[in-house]
Amino acid sequence: IVATGNFHGRTTTAVSASTEPDYRDGFGPLTPGFRAVAFGDLAAVERAITPQTAAVLVEPIQGEAGIIVPPAGWLAALRSICDAHRVLLILDEVQSGLGRTGAWFAFQHEGIRPDGLILGKALGGGVLPVSAFVARREVMDVFTPGSHGSTFGGNPLAAAVGLEALRVIHDEGLVEKSRVLGAHMLERLRAIASPALKDVRGRGLWVGAEIDPAVAGAREACERLLAKGVLSKETHQTVVRLAPPLVIARADLDWALDRFEEVLRELDGTRRTRAA
Ligand SMILES: Cc1ncc(COP(=O)(O)O)c(C=O)c1O
Repeated sequence: IVATGNFHGRTTTAVSASTEPDYRDGFGPLTPGFRAVAFGDLAAVERAITPQTAAVLVEPIQGEAGIIVPPAGWLAALRSICDAHRVLLILDEVQSGLGRTGAWFAFQHEGIRPDGLILGKALGGGVLPVSAFVARREVMDVFTPGSHGSTFGGNPLAAAVGLEALRVIHDEGLVEKSRVLGAHMLERLRAIASPALKDVRGRGLWVGAEIDPAVAGAREACERLLAKGVLSKETHQTVVRLAPPLVIARADLDWALDRFEEVLRELDGTRRTRAA
Protein backbone atom coordinates (compact mmCIF):
# COMPACT_ATOMS: atom_id res chain seq x y z
CA ILE A 1 0.00 0.00 0.00
CA VAL A 2 1.40 3.35 -1.04
CA ALA A 3 0.18 6.94 -0.99
CA THR A 4 -1.04 8.97 -3.94
CA GLY A 5 1.46 11.56 -5.10
CA ASN A 6 4.40 9.55 -3.74
CA PHE A 7 7.87 9.58 -5.20
CA HIS A 8 10.13 6.64 -4.41
CA GLY A 9 12.52 6.88 -7.35
CA ARG A 10 12.84 5.95 -11.00
CA THR A 11 13.44 2.20 -11.07
CA THR A 12 10.66 0.16 -12.68
CA THR A 13 9.16 -0.94 -9.38
CA ALA A 14 9.46 2.53 -7.85
CA VAL A 15 7.57 4.10 -10.77
CA SER A 16 5.03 1.27 -10.52
CA ALA A 17 4.34 2.39 -6.95
CA SER A 18 3.72 5.90 -8.20
CA THR A 19 0.42 7.48 -9.23
CA GLU A 20 2.05 10.25 -11.28
CA PRO A 21 1.87 9.88 -15.08
CA ASP A 22 5.00 12.06 -15.27
CA TYR A 23 7.03 9.32 -13.59
CA ARG A 24 5.31 6.28 -15.13
CA ASP A 25 4.66 7.19 -18.75
CA GLY A 26 6.88 5.36 -21.22
CA PHE A 27 7.94 2.68 -18.77
CA GLY A 28 6.64 -0.84 -18.50
CA PRO A 29 5.57 -3.46 -18.00
CA LEU A 30 5.03 -2.13 -14.50
CA THR A 31 5.32 -4.18 -11.31
CA PRO A 32 1.79 -5.17 -10.20
CA GLY A 33 0.40 -5.32 -6.70
CA PHE A 34 0.46 -1.73 -5.45
CA ARG A 35 -2.64 -0.08 -4.03
CA ALA A 36 -2.53 3.69 -3.69
CA VAL A 37 -4.60 5.52 -1.09
CA ALA A 38 -4.86 9.27 -0.48
CA PHE A 39 -1.87 10.55 1.50
CA GLY A 40 -2.97 11.18 5.08
CA ASP A 41 -6.19 9.11 4.82
CA LEU A 42 -6.04 6.53 7.61
CA ALA A 43 -9.43 4.96 6.96
CA ALA A 44 -8.42 4.34 3.33
CA VAL A 45 -5.30 2.48 4.47
CA GLU A 46 -7.40 0.27 6.70
CA ARG A 47 -9.82 -0.45 3.87
CA ALA A 48 -6.97 -1.29 1.49
CA ILE A 49 -5.37 -3.89 3.76
CA THR A 50 -6.02 -7.51 2.74
CA PRO A 51 -4.50 -10.78 3.98
CA GLN A 52 -2.01 -10.40 1.10
CA THR A 53 -0.78 -6.97 2.17
CA ALA A 54 2.96 -7.01 2.80
CA ALA A 55 3.64 -3.44 3.80
CA VAL A 56 2.61 0.17 3.90
CA LEU A 57 5.26 2.36 2.27
CA VAL A 58 5.07 6.13 2.71
CA GLU A 59 7.15 9.28 2.96
CA PRO A 60 6.49 10.84 6.40
CA ILE A 61 6.38 14.22 4.61
CA GLN A 62 5.95 14.00 0.84
CA GLY A 63 8.81 15.76 -0.91
CA GLU A 64 8.35 15.69 -4.68
CA ALA A 65 4.58 16.06 -4.16
CA GLY A 66 5.27 19.56 -2.80
CA ILE A 67 6.38 19.25 0.85
CA ILE A 68 3.02 17.88 1.96
CA VAL A 69 2.96 17.77 5.77
CA PRO A 70 0.34 15.30 7.06
CA PRO A 71 -1.83 16.09 10.09
CA ALA A 72 -0.22 15.58 13.53
CA GLY A 73 -0.81 12.06 14.80
CA TRP A 74 -1.16 10.53 11.34
CA LEU A 75 2.08 8.54 11.43
CA ALA A 76 1.47 7.23 14.95
CA ALA A 77 -2.03 6.12 13.91
CA LEU A 78 -0.58 4.47 10.80
CA ARG A 79 1.85 2.58 13.07
CA SER A 80 -1.09 1.30 15.14
CA ILE A 81 -3.00 0.19 12.04
CA CYS A 82 0.05 -1.68 10.74
CA ASP A 83 0.57 -3.33 14.12
CA ALA A 84 -3.08 -4.35 14.37
CA HIS A 85 -2.94 -6.03 10.93
CA ARG A 86 0.65 -7.33 11.19
CA VAL A 87 1.68 -5.31 8.16
CA LEU A 88 5.16 -3.79 7.87
CA LEU A 89 5.51 -0.02 8.00
CA ILE A 90 8.29 1.09 5.67
CA LEU A 91 9.27 4.75 5.63
CA ASP A 92 11.02 6.45 2.76
CA GLU A 93 13.15 9.10 4.45
CA VAL A 94 15.40 9.72 1.46
CA GLN A 95 14.46 13.41 1.64
CA SER A 96 13.04 13.82 5.14
CA GLY A 97 15.78 11.87 6.93
CA LEU A 98 19.17 12.75 8.41
CA GLY A 99 18.20 16.04 10.01
CA ARG A 100 16.21 17.67 7.23
CA THR A 101 13.06 18.13 9.35
CA GLY A 102 14.84 19.12 12.55
CA ALA A 103 15.02 15.56 13.88
CA TRP A 104 17.34 12.77 12.78
CA PHE A 105 14.29 11.11 11.24
CA ALA A 106 10.83 12.54 10.63
CA PHE A 107 9.26 9.53 12.40
CA GLN A 108 10.80 10.74 15.66
CA HIS A 109 8.38 13.70 15.71
CA GLU A 110 5.65 11.12 16.36
CA GLY A 111 7.58 8.88 18.73
CA ILE A 112 7.25 5.76 16.58
CA ARG A 113 9.64 3.35 14.89
CA PRO A 114 9.19 1.97 11.39
CA ASP A 115 9.95 -1.66 10.50
CA GLY A 116 12.09 -0.53 7.59
CA LEU A 117 13.69 2.75 6.63
CA ILE A 118 14.98 3.92 3.24
CA LEU A 119 17.83 6.44 3.32
CA GLY A 120 19.88 8.16 0.65
CA LYS A 121 20.83 11.63 -0.52
CA ALA A 122 22.50 13.24 2.53
CA LEU A 123 23.95 9.86 3.49
CA GLY A 124 26.50 10.44 0.72
CA GLY A 125 27.55 13.73 2.26
CA GLY A 126 27.16 15.36 -1.15
CA VAL A 127 30.24 13.45 -2.29
CA LEU A 128 29.26 9.93 -3.30
CA PRO A 129 26.01 8.17 -4.19
CA VAL A 130 25.14 6.27 -0.99
CA SER A 131 21.79 4.80 -0.02
CA ALA A 132 20.64 2.23 2.47
CA PHE A 133 17.73 0.10 3.52
CA VAL A 134 17.72 -0.26 7.30
CA ALA A 135 15.34 -2.55 9.15
CA ARG A 136 14.58 -4.62 12.22
CA ARG A 137 16.68 -7.79 12.45
CA GLU A 138 13.62 -9.96 11.68
CA VAL A 139 13.10 -8.11 8.40
CA MET A 140 16.78 -8.05 7.41
CA ASP A 141 17.09 -11.77 8.10
CA VAL A 142 14.83 -12.42 5.11
CA PHE A 143 18.06 -11.86 3.19
CA THR A 144 20.83 -14.33 3.82
CA PRO A 145 24.44 -13.60 2.86
CA GLY A 146 24.69 -13.57 -0.92
CA SER A 147 20.92 -13.65 -1.55
CA HIS A 148 20.80 -9.99 -2.53
CA GLY A 149 23.46 -7.75 -3.98
CA SER A 150 24.67 -5.64 -6.84
CA THR A 151 28.04 -4.98 -8.46
CA PHE A 152 28.55 -1.71 -6.61
CA GLY A 153 26.45 -2.54 -3.52
CA GLY A 154 28.19 -2.71 -0.16
CA ASN A 155 30.95 -0.54 -1.57
CA PRO A 156 33.56 -0.01 1.20
CA LEU A 157 34.41 3.58 0.19
CA ALA A 158 30.70 4.48 -0.01
CA ALA A 159 30.14 2.88 3.41
CA ALA A 160 33.03 4.90 4.87
CA VAL A 161 31.62 8.11 3.36
CA GLY A 162 28.18 7.25 4.76
CA LEU A 163 29.57 6.76 8.25
CA GLU A 164 31.54 9.99 7.99
CA ALA A 165 28.45 11.88 6.81
CA LEU A 166 26.59 10.63 9.89
CA ARG A 167 29.51 11.70 12.11
CA VAL A 168 29.57 15.21 10.60
CA ILE A 169 25.79 15.61 11.03
CA HIS A 170 26.24 14.61 14.67
CA ASP A 171 29.43 16.50 15.51
CA GLU A 172 28.38 19.74 13.82
CA GLY A 173 24.96 19.72 15.48
CA LEU A 174 23.21 19.90 12.11
CA VAL A 175 19.95 18.33 13.30
CA GLU A 176 19.50 21.01 15.97
CA LYS A 177 20.57 23.66 13.47
CA SER A 178 17.89 22.47 11.06
CA ARG A 179 15.29 22.64 13.84
CA VAL A 180 16.21 26.16 14.96
CA LEU A 181 16.92 27.75 11.56
CA GLY A 182 13.97 25.90 10.03
CA ALA A 183 11.59 27.42 12.57
CA HIS A 184 13.12 30.83 11.79
CA MET A 185 12.69 30.27 8.04
CA LEU A 186 9.04 29.24 8.41
CA GLU A 187 8.31 32.20 10.68
CA ARG A 188 9.86 34.66 8.21
CA LEU A 189 8.08 33.14 5.22
CA ARG A 190 4.72 33.06 7.00
CA ALA A 191 5.10 36.75 7.86
CA ILE A 192 5.31 37.72 4.17
CA ALA A 193 2.18 39.42 2.91
CA SER A 194 2.15 38.83 -0.84
CA PRO A 195 -0.76 38.00 -3.14
CA ALA A 196 1.64 35.70 -5.03
CA LEU A 197 2.23 33.53 -1.96
CA LYS A 198 -0.73 31.25 -1.23
CA ASP A 199 0.70 28.87 1.37
CA VAL A 200 3.88 28.09 3.24
CA ARG A 201 4.42 24.68 4.84
CA GLY A 202 7.31 22.57 6.00
CA ARG A 203 9.37 21.31 8.86
CA GLY A 204 13.01 22.03 9.66
CA LEU A 205 15.07 23.46 6.81
CA TRP A 206 12.57 22.18 4.28
CA VAL A 207 9.78 24.36 3.02
CA GLY A 208 7.29 24.39 0.19
CA ALA A 209 5.99 27.80 -0.84
CA GLU A 210 2.84 27.66 -2.92
CA ILE A 211 2.77 30.30 -5.64
CA ASP A 212 -0.60 31.49 -6.97
CA PRO A 213 -0.69 30.21 -10.57
CA ALA A 214 -2.79 33.26 -11.50
CA VAL A 215 0.31 35.35 -10.69
CA ALA A 216 3.17 33.17 -11.94
CA GLY A 217 4.41 29.63 -12.34
CA ALA A 218 6.74 28.24 -9.69
CA ARG A 219 9.36 27.73 -12.39
CA GLU A 220 9.42 31.46 -13.09
CA ALA A 221 9.86 32.15 -9.38
CA CYS A 222 12.76 29.66 -9.23
CA GLU A 223 14.41 31.22 -12.28
CA ARG A 224 14.13 34.69 -10.79
CA LEU A 225 15.66 33.34 -7.57
CA LEU A 226 18.47 31.72 -9.56
CA ALA A 227 19.24 35.04 -11.25
CA LYS A 228 19.73 36.50 -7.76
CA GLY A 229 21.99 33.63 -6.69
CA VAL A 230 19.52 31.40 -4.83
CA LEU A 231 19.03 27.80 -5.97
CA SER A 232 15.60 26.28 -5.44
CA LYS A 233 13.48 23.76 -7.33
CA GLU A 234 9.87 23.92 -8.34
CA THR A 235 7.52 20.97 -8.17
CA HIS A 236 4.06 20.50 -9.69
CA GLN A 237 4.11 23.92 -11.37
CA THR A 238 3.00 25.76 -8.23
CA VAL A 239 5.43 24.94 -5.41
CA VAL A 240 8.86 26.45 -4.82
CA ARG A 241 10.93 24.13 -2.68
CA LEU A 242 13.48 25.64 -0.37
CA ALA A 243 15.89 23.12 1.15
CA PRO A 244 19.00 25.00 2.24
CA PRO A 245 22.05 22.97 3.19
CA LEU A 246 21.98 22.14 6.90
CA VAL A 247 25.38 23.82 7.29
CA ILE A 248 23.97 27.20 6.22
CA ALA A 249 24.78 30.23 8.39
CA ARG A 250 21.84 32.22 9.72
CA ALA A 251 23.05 35.34 7.88
CA ASP A 252 23.15 33.45 4.57
CA LEU A 253 19.68 32.05 5.17
CA ASP A 254 18.36 35.55 5.88
CA TRP A 255 20.06 36.83 2.74
CA ALA A 256 18.35 34.10 0.67
CA LEU A 257 14.98 34.84 2.27
CA ASP A 258 15.45 38.55 1.43
CA ARG A 259 15.93 37.51 -2.21
CA PHE A 260 12.76 35.39 -2.01
CA GLU A 261 10.81 38.41 -0.73
CA GLU A 262 12.23 40.48 -3.60
CA VAL A 263 11.06 37.89 -6.12
CA LEU A 264 7.56 37.87 -4.63
CA ARG A 265 7.42 41.68 -4.85
CA GLU A 266 8.51 41.47 -8.50
CA LEU A 267 5.83 38.86 -9.23
CA ASP A 268 3.16 40.94 -7.48
CA GLY A 269 4.32 43.86 -9.65
CA THR A 270 4.05 41.86 -12.87
CA ARG A 271 0.52 40.82 -11.96
CA ARG A 272 -0.52 44.41 -11.41
CA THR A 273 1.07 45.32 -14.74
CA ARG A 274 -0.66 42.44 -16.56
CA ALA A 275 -3.99 43.28 -14.94
CA ALA A 276 -3.67 46.97 -15.90
C1 LIG B 1 11.45 10.40 -1.14
C2 LIG B 1 12.38 9.88 -2.18
N1 LIG B 1 12.54 8.56 -2.30
C3 LIG B 1 13.38 8.03 -3.22
C4 LIG B 1 14.09 8.84 -4.06
C5 LIG B 1 14.97 8.20 -5.08
O1 LIG B 1 16.26 8.18 -4.68
P1 LIG B 1 17.38 7.82 -5.76
O2 LIG B 1 17.32 8.94 -6.76
O3 LIG B 1 18.63 7.81 -4.97
O4 LIG B 1 17.01 6.51 -6.34
C6 LIG B 1 13.98 10.21 -3.96
C7 LIG B 1 14.75 11.10 -4.85
O5 LIG B 1 14.49 12.29 -4.96
C8 LIG B 1 13.09 10.75 -3.00
O6 LIG B 1 12.91 12.07 -2.89
